[in-house]
Amino acid sequence: MDKERFRQFGYRFIDWVVDYLSEVEKFPVRSPLKPNQVKELLPGAPPVKGENMEDIFDDFKKIILPGITHWQHPCWFAYFPANNSPPSVLAELLTAGIGAQCMIWQTSPSATELEEVVIEWLRQMIGLPEGMQGCIQDTASTATLCSIICARERATGFESNQKGLKVPLVVYASTETHSSIEKGVKIAGLGKESLRLIPTDDKYAMLSDELDRAIQEDKREGKIPACVIATIGTTSSTAVDPIKEIGEICSRHGIWLHVDAAYAGTALILPEMKHILDGAGYIDSFVFNPHKWMFTNFDCSAYFVKDPKTLTRTFEIHPEYLKTGVDAKVKNFRDWGIQLGRRFRALKLWFVIRTYGVEGLQNMIREHLGLAQIFKGYVEESPYFELMAPVNFSVVCFRLNNGSSDEYLNIINEKLLNEVNDTGEVFLTHTSLGGRYTIRMAIGQRTTQERHVRKAWDIIQNKARRYL
Ligand SMILES: Cc1ncc(COP(=O)(O)O)c(C=O)c1O
Repeated sequence: MDKERFRQFGYRFIDWVVDYLSEVEKFPVRSPLKPNQVKELLPGAPPVKGENMEDIFDDFKKIILPGITHWQHPCWFAYFPANNSPPSVLAELLTAGIGAQCMIWQTSPSATELEEVVIEWLRQMIGLPEGMQGCIQDTASTATLCSIICARERATGFESNQKGLKVPLVVYASTETHSSIEKGVKIAGLGKESLRLIPTDDKYAMLSDELDRAIQEDKREGKIPACVIATIGTTSSTAVDPIKEIGEICSRHGIWLHVDAAYAGTALILPEMKHILDGAGYIDSFVFNPHKWMFTNFDCSAYFVKDPKTLTRTFEIHPEYLKTGVDAKVKNFRDWGIQLGRRFRALKLWFVIRTYGVEGLQNMIREHLGLAQIFKGYVEESPYFELMAPVNFSVVCFRLNNGSSDEYLNIINEKLLNEVNDTGEVFLTHTSLGGRYTIRMAIGQRTTQERHVRKAWDIIQNKARRYL
């Protein structure tokens, strides 16, 4: 592709993206396609001769776009948000254009140093203790895996990296923990049976005395408690585990404390939410995802550790071909995690934080928290719906309750959710809380306004009528 065609399509594509984001509301939120419908429209073999960009762009619009579920739609209320923003998109364009691979300082000093700076900005913004350092990981799953591996190494005096795991380590998390924890425990070679799921209270937060009891029992049996994973904002109901109580237990038993705040970490930029981090001094590692709720394109997970030496000692590797004359003076982020090659992710964070400023970001998050309270009010006022969990952030867990048995309510709530989503007007997803089918209304899209939240409620009420 010559320079002028590149420029011409570049302008057209940015126009397309601007229009897409401003008109995304006209699409069905969830793609209505059936399995294999996209593949059926695509050739099974690659083109032998190069094709023209006009045709490729046409196919993008005709074949690909209908199979897109529109995460940036203002009526996106599913899972958690993965919101983006104009400054983030623009930065991603520059990142793609530069095409730098940022594995070590030398492969782009700006990428490494900007990453150090934005990570420090984020630390200050969310109120983690001074001195915690970090880097940007692709996902919270990867960051948590890094912590489990660090905990493994610390608990075994860095022996398992040398000889393989020879002792029975144990990892603890609540019954409400994210599935990535089980995956991490398996990948780290500890085995699924070494994950203890600690019961929760009626707000779905980990019971710290149950944690202490489980740790003592494991110790009596000769096992080695290595890591506790606490969650700020569980995936099902956004419950908050008591960090201080858990931290005291970890400190008493010499256990690594990792905090998974993948979604809710962004809310900690609000002064009124800072109390959640009471006990932050106990935290060994912490992750949250600006790619969920902080207007930064996927992927971007901010990962912090108290003791970077444990992290780098766990992951560092020094092949001859990667040695440089400045290694002693700089950070080489290849030693801060699993992957060698790294994207230049700091740029989009820098653009986002500078464009909105901390106050601007706080206002946008407060807006979402306020919308969740409005939706909570709708549920509370209705005689046919009930809240299923406290609304700690911007997710409302609720269900239709017409007085039938839990078993029947599970069936009708699932049907109700499917009917609501089949309208294409909104998209919500579900979870199970205490065995009860629960609909989740997750608010966090950059452009979501009160009218969108009201629209969701109207559709839900309308579809619920036949079950009353
Ligand atoms: C609490 C929690 N932890 C971890 C994850 C995994 O995040 P990622 O997709 O960045 O790995 C999620 C995803 O929603 C989550 O809710």
